[in-house]
Amino acid sequence: MAERWATFGIDLHLDPTGPGLRRGLTDALREAVRTGRLAPGTRLPSSRSLAADLGIARNTVADAYADLVAEGRLTARQGSGTRVADRAAPAPPAAAPSPRRTPGRLPYSLVPGTPDLSSFPRAEWLRATRRALAAAPHDAFGYGDPRGRPELRTALADYLARVRGVRADPEHLVVRPGFADGLRLLCEVLRARGARTLAVESYGLDVHRDLATRAGLHTTPLPHDALGTRAQEPGTADAVLLSPAHQFPLGGALLPERRAAVVDLARRTGTLILEDDYDGEFRYDRQPVGALQDLDPDHVVYLGTASKSLAPGLRLGWMVVPPSLLPAVTEHGGLTVGVVEQLTLAEFLTSGAYDRHVRAARLRYRRRRDALVRALAERAPDVQVTGIAAGLHAVLRLPPGTERSVVQAATWHGLLVHGLSRFRHPDADVTPSDALVVGYATPPDHAWAATLEALCRALP
Ligand SMILES: Cc1ncc(COP(=O)(O)O)c(C=O)c1O
Repeated sequence: MAERWATFGIDLHLDPTGPGLRRGLTDALREAVRTGRLAPGTRLPSSRSLAADLGIARNTVADAYADLVAEGRLTARQGSGTRVADRAAPAPPAAAPSPRRTPGRLPYSLVPGTPDLSSFPRAEWLRATRRALAAAPHDAFGYGDPRGRPELRTALADYLARVRGVRADPEHLVVRPGFADGLRLLCEVLRARGARTLAVESYGLDVHRDLATRAGLHTTPLPHDALGTRAQEPGTADAVLLSPAHQFPLGGALLPERRAAVVDLARRTGTLILEDDYDGEFRYDRQPVGALQDLDPDHVVYLGTASKSLAPGLRLGWMVVPPSLLPAVTEHGGLTVGVVEQLTLAEFLTSGAYDRHVRAARLRYRRRRDALVRALAERAPDVQVTGIAAGLHAVLRLPPGTERSVVQAATWHGLLVHGLSRFRHPDADVTPSDALVVGYATPPDHAWAATLEALCRALP
Protein backbone atom coordinates (compact mmCIF):
# COMPACT_ATOMS: atom_id res chain seq x y z
CA MET A 1 0.00 0.00 0.00
CA ALA A 2 1.59 3.29 -1.05
CA GLU A 3 -0.08 6.45 0.14
CA ARG A 4 0.69 10.13 0.17
CA TRP A 5 -0.34 12.06 3.19
CA ALA A 6 -0.28 15.73 3.88
CA THR A 7 -0.85 16.86 7.41
CA PHE A 8 0.76 19.69 9.38
CA GLY A 9 2.40 20.76 6.14
CA ILE A 10 4.10 17.39 5.74
CA ASP A 11 3.84 15.70 2.37
CA LEU A 12 5.48 12.32 2.48
CA HIS A 13 5.32 9.21 0.40
CA LEU A 14 5.00 6.19 2.70
CA ASP A 15 5.06 2.65 1.48
CA PRO A 16 4.20 0.35 4.37
CA THR A 17 5.03 -3.10 3.03
CA GLY A 18 5.75 -6.42 4.69
CA PRO A 19 3.84 -9.11 6.50
CA GLY A 20 1.88 -6.99 8.95
CA LEU A 21 0.54 -3.49 8.64
CA ARG A 22 2.00 -2.36 11.95
CA ARG A 23 5.44 -3.68 11.05
CA GLY A 24 5.19 -2.26 7.53
CA LEU A 25 4.26 1.18 8.81
CA THR A 26 6.95 1.11 11.48
CA ASP A 27 9.59 0.16 8.93
CA ALA A 28 8.45 2.84 6.50
CA LEU A 29 8.53 5.55 9.17
CA ARG A 30 11.89 4.35 10.49
CA GLU A 31 13.32 4.51 7.00
CA ALA A 32 11.92 8.02 6.47
CA VAL A 33 13.59 9.16 9.72
CA ARG A 34 16.84 7.36 8.97
CA THR A 35 17.23 8.86 5.51
CA GLY A 36 16.26 12.33 6.70
CA ARG A 37 13.07 12.52 4.63
CA LEU A 38 11.50 13.27 8.01
CA ALA A 39 13.81 15.86 9.52
CA PRO A 40 14.55 16.04 13.27
CA GLY A 41 11.85 18.02 15.05
CA THR A 42 9.21 17.35 12.37
CA ARG A 43 5.78 17.05 13.94
CA LEU A 44 3.96 13.93 12.77
CA PRO A 45 0.24 13.82 12.16
CA SER A 46 -1.95 12.52 14.96
CA SER A 47 -2.53 8.78 14.88
CA ARG A 48 -6.16 9.47 14.07
CA SER A 49 -5.45 11.60 11.03
CA LEU A 50 -2.67 9.38 9.67
CA ALA A 51 -4.87 6.34 10.13
CA ALA A 52 -7.63 8.10 8.19
CA ASP A 53 -5.17 9.08 5.42
CA LEU A 54 -3.84 5.55 5.11
CA GLY A 55 -7.19 3.87 5.59
CA ILE A 56 -6.01 1.71 8.49
CA ALA A 57 -6.96 1.32 12.15
CA ARG A 58 -5.89 4.11 14.49
CA ASN A 59 -4.34 1.59 16.88
CA THR A 60 -2.02 0.33 14.18
CA VAL A 61 -0.61 3.83 13.79
CA ALA A 62 -0.47 4.38 17.56
CA ASP A 63 1.45 1.11 17.95
CA ALA A 64 3.89 2.01 15.19
CA TYR A 65 4.53 5.41 16.82
CA ALA A 66 4.99 3.70 20.21
CA ASP A 67 7.58 1.30 18.72
CA LEU A 68 9.58 4.19 17.29
CA VAL A 69 9.33 6.20 20.51
CA ALA A 70 10.72 3.16 22.31
CA GLU A 71 13.59 3.06 19.79
CA GLY A 72 14.29 6.73 20.44
CA ARG A 73 13.51 7.75 16.88
CA LEU A 74 10.35 9.65 17.80
CA THR A 75 9.38 11.61 20.89
CA ALA A 76 5.87 11.90 22.28
CA ARG A 77 5.01 14.72 24.61
CA GLN A 78 1.67 15.81 25.97
CA GLY A 79 0.57 18.91 24.15
CA SER A 80 3.19 18.87 21.42
CA GLY A 81 2.30 15.57 19.76
CA THR A 82 4.70 13.12 18.20
CA ARG A 83 7.89 14.44 16.65
CA VAL A 84 11.02 13.10 15.05
CA ALA A 85 13.67 12.96 17.78
CA ASP A 86 16.59 15.32 17.50
CA ARG A 87 19.18 12.64 17.99
CA ALA A 88 17.64 10.67 15.16
CA ALA A 89 19.29 13.11 12.78
CA PRO A 90 20.70 11.14 9.88
CA ALA A 91 24.32 11.26 8.94
CA PRO A 92 24.70 13.86 6.19
CA PRO A 93 24.45 12.22 2.78
CA ALA A 94 27.76 11.45 1.14
CA ALA A 95 28.59 14.34 -1.16
CA ALA A 96 28.34 13.48 -4.83
CA PRO A 97 31.80 13.59 -6.34
CA SER A 98 32.20 16.90 -8.09
CA PRO A 99 35.26 18.06 -9.97
CA ARG A 100 34.95 21.50 -8.40
CA ARG A 101 34.45 20.29 -4.83
CA THR A 102 37.25 20.82 -2.37
CA PRO A 103 38.44 17.55 -0.84
CA GLY A 104 38.49 17.60 2.92
CA ARG A 105 37.75 20.77 4.77
CA LEU A 106 40.54 23.15 4.02
CA PRO A 107 39.66 26.63 5.24
CA TYR A 108 41.27 28.52 2.35
CA SER A 109 40.93 28.11 -1.39
CA LEU A 110 42.63 29.63 -4.40
CA VAL A 111 41.07 27.22 -6.86
CA PRO A 112 40.33 29.20 -10.02
CA GLY A 113 36.85 29.26 -11.47
CA THR A 114 34.70 31.35 -9.18
CA PRO A 115 34.48 35.01 -8.30
CA ASP A 116 34.19 36.08 -4.66
CA LEU A 117 30.74 34.66 -3.94
CA SER A 118 30.33 36.84 -0.86
CA SER A 119 30.24 39.87 -3.13
CA PHE A 120 27.24 38.73 -5.14
CA PRO A 121 25.09 41.88 -5.49
CA ARG A 122 22.09 40.50 -3.61
CA ALA A 123 20.21 43.76 -3.06
CA GLU A 124 20.60 44.95 -6.66
CA TRP A 125 19.69 41.52 -8.00
CA LEU A 126 16.56 41.48 -5.84
CA ARG A 127 15.60 44.95 -7.04
CA ALA A 128 16.09 43.85 -10.64
CA THR A 129 13.95 40.75 -10.02
CA ARG A 130 11.14 42.86 -8.60
CA ARG A 131 11.22 45.27 -11.51
CA ALA A 132 11.46 42.45 -14.04
CA LEU A 133 8.54 40.54 -12.55
CA ALA A 134 6.38 43.64 -12.39
CA ALA A 135 7.00 44.36 -16.05
CA ALA A 136 6.83 40.78 -17.39
CA PRO A 137 3.93 39.98 -19.72
CA HIS A 138 1.84 36.92 -18.85
CA ASP A 139 3.28 34.94 -21.74
CA ALA A 140 6.74 35.17 -20.17
CA PHE A 141 5.68 32.39 -17.82
CA GLY A 142 4.90 29.95 -20.62
CA TYR A 143 7.27 27.44 -22.22
CA GLY A 144 8.57 30.14 -24.50
CA ASP A 145 11.24 30.35 -27.16
CA PRO A 146 14.01 27.75 -26.81
CA ARG A 147 16.53 30.53 -27.53
CA GLY A 148 15.43 32.34 -24.37
CA ARG A 149 13.41 35.46 -23.60
CA PRO A 150 13.59 38.22 -26.21
CA GLU A 151 14.22 40.83 -23.48
CA LEU A 152 17.41 39.06 -22.46
CA ARG A 153 18.58 38.30 -25.98
CA THR A 154 18.16 41.95 -26.93
CA ALA A 155 19.90 43.21 -23.79
CA LEU A 156 22.78 40.76 -24.28
CA ALA A 157 23.17 41.62 -27.96
CA ASP A 158 23.54 45.32 -27.07
CA TYR A 159 25.91 44.61 -24.22
CA LEU A 160 28.13 42.18 -26.13
CA ALA A 161 28.39 44.52 -29.11
CA ARG A 162 29.29 47.45 -26.86
CA VAL A 163 31.69 45.73 -24.48
CA ARG A 164 33.13 42.76 -26.37
CA GLY A 165 32.76 43.82 -30.00
CA VAL A 166 30.57 40.81 -30.77
CA ARG A 167 28.41 40.96 -33.86
CA ALA A 168 25.27 39.90 -32.07
CA ASP A 169 21.81 39.77 -33.57
CA PRO A 170 19.25 38.89 -30.85
CA GLU A 171 17.76 36.39 -33.31
CA HIS A 172 21.03 34.41 -33.25
CA LEU A 173 21.49 34.55 -29.52
CA VAL A 174 20.72 31.45 -27.47
CA VAL A 175 20.55 31.54 -23.67
CA ARG A 176 21.81 28.39 -21.93
CA PRO A 177 22.51 27.36 -18.33
CA GLY A 178 26.17 28.34 -18.42
CA PHE A 179 29.05 27.92 -20.84
CA ALA A 180 29.37 24.22 -20.08
CA ASP A 181 25.83 23.49 -21.20
CA GLY A 182 26.34 25.51 -24.38
CA LEU A 183 29.50 23.54 -25.12
CA ARG A 184 27.75 20.23 -24.47
CA LEU A 185 24.92 21.22 -26.80
CA LEU A 186 27.27 22.31 -29.56
CA CYS A 187 29.31 19.12 -29.29
CA GLU A 188 26.15 17.04 -29.57
CA VAL A 189 24.96 19.01 -32.59
CA LEU A 190 28.37 18.68 -34.22
CA ARG A 191 28.49 14.96 -33.54
CA ALA A 192 24.99 14.53 -34.99
CA ARG A 193 26.28 16.23 -38.14
CA GLY A 194 29.10 13.74 -38.41
CA ALA A 195 31.93 15.60 -36.63
CA ARG A 196 34.46 13.39 -34.91
CA THR A 197 37.19 15.59 -33.47
CA LEU A 198 37.38 18.75 -31.39
CA ALA A 199 40.79 20.44 -31.17
CA VAL A 200 41.38 22.01 -27.76
CA GLU A 201 44.17 24.05 -26.21
CA SER A 202 47.02 22.07 -24.67
CA TYR A 203 46.02 23.51 -21.31
CA GLY A 204 42.36 23.79 -20.37
CA LEU A 205 39.65 22.43 -18.14
CA ASP A 206 39.22 18.67 -18.07
CA VAL A 207 35.48 19.08 -17.38
CA HIS A 208 35.11 20.74 -20.76
CA ARG A 209 37.16 18.07 -22.52
CA ASP A 210 35.04 15.42 -20.80
CA LEU A 211 31.84 17.05 -22.05
CA ALA A 212 33.10 16.75 -25.60
CA THR A 213 34.15 13.15 -25.05
CA ARG A 214 30.75 12.26 -23.62
CA ALA A 215 29.12 13.81 -26.69
CA GLY A 216 31.15 11.38 -28.80
CA LEU A 217 33.94 13.70 -29.93
CA HIS A 218 37.61 12.90 -29.68
CA THR A 219 39.66 15.81 -28.31
CA THR A 220 43.12 16.54 -29.70
CA PRO A 221 45.48 19.14 -28.26
CA LEU A 222 46.51 22.11 -30.41
CA PRO A 223 50.25 22.68 -30.64
CA HIS A 224 51.63 25.16 -28.14
CA ASP A 225 54.87 27.19 -28.21
CA ALA A 226 56.49 29.99 -26.26
CA LEU A 227 54.05 32.49 -27.80
CA GLY A 228 50.96 30.50 -26.87
CA THR A 229 48.49 28.29 -28.73
CA ARG A 230 49.12 27.60 -32.41
CA ALA A 231 45.38 27.83 -32.97
CA GLN A 232 45.81 27.87 -36.73
CA GLU A 233 47.04 24.24 -36.73
CA PRO A 234 44.04 22.12 -35.74
CA GLY A 235 44.97 19.33 -38.17
CA THR A 236 41.88 17.50 -39.35
CA ALA A 237 39.66 18.54 -36.42
CA ASP A 238 36.07 19.47 -37.26
CA ALA A 239 35.94 22.21 -34.64
CA VAL A 240 38.34 24.16 -32.40
CA LEU A 241 37.69 25.28 -28.83
CA LEU A 242 39.66 28.40 -27.90
CA SER A 243 39.81 31.00 -25.13
CA PRO A 244 41.35 33.75 -27.30
CA ALA A 245 40.88 36.81 -25.09
CA HIS A 246 42.40 35.15 -22.03
CA GLN A 247 43.75 31.65 -22.35
CA PHE A 248 42.66 29.42 -19.51
CA PRO A 249 44.71 28.76 -17.47
CA LEU A 250 47.93 30.28 -18.85
CA GLY A 251 46.48 33.76 -19.12
CA GLY A 252 47.77 35.22 -22.41
CA ALA A 253 45.76 36.52 -25.34
CA LEU A 254 45.90 34.72 -28.67
CA LEU A 255 48.36 36.59 -30.93
CA PRO A 256 46.64 38.78 -33.56
CA GLU A 257 48.27 36.92 -36.47
CA ARG A 258 47.12 33.58 -35.03
CA ARG A 259 43.60 34.92 -34.53
CA ALA A 260 43.48 35.97 -38.15
CA ALA A 261 45.03 32.70 -39.32
CA VAL A 262 42.61 30.42 -37.49
CA VAL A 263 39.60 32.37 -38.77
CA ASP A 264 41.03 32.23 -42.26
CA LEU A 265 41.46 28.49 -41.94
CA ALA A 266 37.88 28.11 -40.65
CA ARG A 267 36.61 29.98 -43.67
CA ARG A 268 38.58 27.82 -46.08
CA THR A 269 37.93 24.42 -44.51
CA GLY A 270 34.57 24.82 -42.76
CA THR A 271 36.11 24.11 -39.36
CA LEU A 272 33.94 25.66 -36.67
CA ILE A 273 35.56 27.82 -33.97
CA LEU A 274 34.02 27.75 -30.48
CA GLU A 275 35.11 30.90 -28.66
CA ASP A 276 35.10 30.65 -24.86
CA ASP A 277 34.92 34.25 -23.62
CA TYR A 278 34.56 33.36 -19.95
CA ASP A 279 36.10 36.43 -18.30
CA GLY A 280 36.48 39.00 -21.08
CA GLU A 281 35.29 41.87 -18.87
CA PHE A 282 38.18 41.52 -16.47
CA ARG A 283 41.28 43.22 -17.80
CA TYR A 284 43.55 45.51 -15.86
CA ASP A 285 46.57 46.94 -17.57
CA ARG A 286 46.23 45.94 -21.16
CA GLN A 287 44.06 47.02 -24.07
CA PRO A 288 40.77 45.14 -24.31
CA VAL A 289 40.97 42.13 -26.59
CA GLY A 290 37.72 42.02 -28.50
CA ALA A 291 35.87 38.88 -29.47
CA LEU A 292 37.23 36.72 -32.26
CA GLN A 293 33.67 36.22 -33.46
CA ASP A 294 33.72 39.72 -34.92
CA LEU A 295 36.18 38.48 -37.58
CA ASP A 296 33.72 35.96 -38.97
CA PRO A 297 30.32 35.41 -37.32
CA ASP A 298 29.58 32.63 -39.82
CA HIS A 299 32.41 30.42 -38.60
CA VAL A 300 32.73 31.34 -34.95
CA VAL A 301 30.29 30.49 -32.16
CA TYR A 302 30.73 33.02 -29.37
CA LEU A 303 30.07 31.67 -25.86
CA GLY A 304 29.82 33.85 -22.76
CA THR A 305 28.78 33.32 -19.16
CA ALA A 306 27.75 35.17 -16.00
CA SER A 307 29.74 32.66 -13.93
CA LYS A 308 32.72 35.02 -13.40
CA SER A 309 31.01 38.38 -13.63
CA LEU A 310 28.16 37.45 -11.25
CA ALA A 311 28.08 33.89 -9.91
CA PRO A 312 28.27 30.38 -11.35
CA GLY A 313 25.27 29.28 -9.29
CA LEU A 314 22.99 31.42 -11.45
CA ARG A 315 23.71 29.09 -14.38
CA LEU A 316 23.39 31.85 -16.93
CA GLY A 317 25.30 31.65 -20.17
CA TRP A 318 24.75 32.59 -23.81
CA MET A 319 25.96 31.84 -27.28
CA VAL A 320 25.87 33.74 -30.52
CA VAL A 321 25.36 31.06 -33.12
CA PRO A 322 26.06 31.25 -36.88
CA PRO A 323 22.75 31.26 -38.80
CA SER A 324 23.55 27.93 -40.48
CA LEU A 325 23.79 26.19 -37.12
CA LEU A 326 20.89 27.89 -35.38
CA PRO A 327 18.01 25.55 -36.32
CA ALA A 328 19.94 22.47 -35.15
CA VAL A 329 20.95 24.19 -31.90
CA THR A 330 17.43 25.30 -31.04
CA GLU A 331 15.88 21.98 -32.02
CA HIS A 332 18.40 19.95 -30.07
CA GLY A 333 18.66 22.33 -27.12
CA GLY A 334 15.17 22.09 -25.66
CA LEU A 335 14.16 24.44 -22.87
CA THR A 336 16.61 26.84 -21.40
CA VAL A 337 17.16 28.84 -18.19
CA GLY A 338 14.23 29.72 -15.88
CA VAL A 339 12.39 32.86 -16.90
CA VAL A 340 12.86 34.76 -13.64
CA GLU A 341 16.65 34.57 -13.91
CA GLN A 342 16.51 35.53 -17.57
CA LEU A 343 14.31 38.57 -17.01
CA THR A 344 16.34 39.62 -14.00
CA LEU A 345 19.57 39.52 -15.97
CA ALA A 346 17.92 41.47 -18.78
CA GLU A 347 16.86 44.14 -16.28
CA PHE A 348 20.30 44.06 -14.64
CA LEU A 349 21.93 44.72 -18.00
CA THR A 350 19.60 47.41 -19.27
CA SER A 351 19.50 49.33 -15.98
CA GLY A 352 23.30 49.61 -15.91
CA ALA A 353 23.57 47.54 -12.71
CA TYR A 354 25.67 44.91 -14.53
CA ASP A 355 28.22 47.50 -15.71
CA ARG A 356 28.42 49.01 -12.23
CA HIS A 357 28.88 45.61 -10.64
CA VAL A 358 31.59 44.56 -13.10
CA ARG A 359 33.44 47.87 -12.67
CA ALA A 360 33.43 47.52 -8.88
CA ALA A 361 34.48 43.85 -9.09
CA ARG A 362 37.29 44.72 -11.51
CA LEU A 363 38.66 47.26 -9.07
CA ARG A 364 38.50 44.84 -6.15
CA TYR A 365 40.19 42.02 -8.06
CA ARG A 366 42.83 44.34 -9.41
CA ARG A 367 43.71 45.29 -5.84
CA ARG A 368 43.96 41.64 -4.90
CA ARG A 369 46.12 40.91 -7.89
CA ASP A 370 48.44 43.80 -6.94
CA ALA A 371 48.57 42.56 -3.35
CA LEU A 372 49.46 39.08 -4.60
CA VAL A 373 52.25 40.38 -6.81
CA ARG A 374 53.65 42.53 -3.97
CA ALA A 375 53.51 39.69 -1.46
CA LEU A 376 55.28 37.30 -3.82
CA ALA A 377 58.01 39.80 -4.64
CA GLU A 378 58.70 40.16 -0.94
CA ARG A 379 58.17 36.64 0.35
CA ALA A 380 58.88 34.36 -2.61
CA PRO A 381 61.22 36.19 -4.97
CA ASP A 382 62.06 32.97 -6.85
CA VAL A 383 58.47 32.60 -7.96
CA GLN A 384 57.61 34.34 -11.21
CA VAL A 385 54.04 35.55 -11.70
CA THR A 386 52.57 35.43 -15.21
CA GLY A 387 49.20 35.87 -16.90
CA ILE A 388 48.15 38.75 -14.70
CA ALA A 389 47.09 41.43 -17.17
CA ALA A 390 43.54 40.13 -17.17
CA GLY A 391 41.15 37.67 -15.59
CA LEU A 392 40.71 36.35 -12.09
CA HIS A 393 43.71 34.07 -11.78
CA ALA A 394 47.50 34.16 -12.06
CA VAL A 395 50.10 31.54 -12.90
CA LEU A 396 52.95 31.25 -10.41
CA ARG A 397 56.02 29.67 -12.01
CA LEU A 398 57.84 27.42 -9.56
CA PRO A 399 61.36 26.01 -9.50
CA PRO A 400 61.50 22.77 -11.57
CA GLY A 401 60.23 19.67 -9.81
CA THR A 402 58.49 21.48 -6.95
CA GLU A 403 54.84 21.73 -8.06
CA ARG A 404 53.58 18.66 -6.28
CA SER A 405 55.38 19.42 -3.02
CA VAL A 406 54.14 23.03 -3.02
CA VAL A 407 50.52 21.90 -3.55
CA GLN A 408 51.01 19.46 -0.66
CA ALA A 409 52.63 22.10 1.55
CA ALA A 410 49.69 24.40 0.85
CA THR A 411 47.27 21.82 2.23
CA TRP A 412 49.34 21.71 5.44
CA HIS A 413 48.70 25.44 5.72
CA GLY A 414 44.97 24.90 5.15
CA LEU A 415 45.01 26.05 1.52
CA LEU A 416 43.61 24.28 -1.51
CA VAL A 417 45.41 25.32 -4.68
CA HIS A 418 45.86 23.60 -8.03
CA GLY A 419 49.04 22.90 -9.92
CA LEU A 420 49.26 23.67 -13.63
CA SER A 421 49.80 20.02 -14.51
CA ARG A 422 46.17 19.10 -13.79
CA PHE A 423 45.04 21.33 -16.67
CA ARG A 424 47.33 19.76 -19.28
CA HIS A 425 45.69 17.65 -21.98
CA PRO A 426 47.01 14.10 -21.52
CA ASP A 427 48.23 14.01 -25.14
CA ALA A 428 49.70 17.53 -25.19
CA ASP A 429 53.14 17.77 -26.70
CA VAL A 430 54.49 20.35 -24.27
CA THR A 431 57.40 20.34 -21.90
CA PRO A 432 55.76 20.14 -18.49
CA SER A 433 56.57 23.14 -16.34
CA ASP A 434 55.95 23.51 -12.62
CA ALA A 435 53.45 26.17 -11.66
CA LEU A 436 50.39 27.00 -9.59
CA VAL A 437 47.15 28.37 -11.03
CA VAL A 438 45.99 30.81 -8.39
CA GLY A 439 42.37 31.98 -8.48
CA TYR A 440 42.80 35.14 -6.45
CA ALA A 441 39.13 36.12 -6.83
CA THR A 442 37.91 33.00 -5.06
CA PRO A 443 38.27 33.84 -1.34
CA PRO A 444 35.70 36.06 0.34
CA ASP A 445 37.11 39.44 1.40
CA HIS A 446 37.36 38.49 5.05
CA ALA A 447 39.56 35.46 4.24
CA TRP A 448 41.78 37.08 1.60
CA ALA A 449 44.64 38.16 3.88
CA ALA A 450 44.82 34.78 5.62
CA THR A 451 44.62 32.95 2.28
CA LEU A 452 47.50 34.99 0.88
CA GLU A 453 49.52 34.32 4.01
CA ALA A 454 48.90 30.55 3.67
CA LEU A 455 50.06 30.72 0.05
CA CYS A 456 53.25 32.60 0.91
CA ARG A 457 54.08 30.08 3.60
CA ALA A 458 53.69 27.20 1.19
CA LEU A 459 55.92 28.69 -1.50
CA PRO A 460 59.63 27.86 -1.75
C1 LIG B 1 37.82 28.40 -19.04
C2 LIG B 1 36.42 28.54 -18.55
N1 LIG B 1 35.44 28.64 -19.43
C3 LIG B 1 34.15 28.77 -19.04
C4 LIG B 1 33.82 28.82 -17.71
C5 LIG B 1 32.39 29.06 -17.30
O1 LIG B 1 31.68 27.92 -17.20
P1 LIG B 1 30.13 27.94 -16.78
O2 LIG B 1 29.46 29.09 -17.47
O3 LIG B 1 29.64 26.63 -17.25
O4 LIG B 1 30.06 28.10 -15.30
C6 LIG B 1 34.80 28.68 -16.76
C7 LIG B 1 34.46 28.66 -15.33
O5 LIG B 1 35.14 28.15 -14.50
C8 LIG B 1 36.14 28.55 -17.18
O6 LIG B 1 37.14 28.47 -16.29
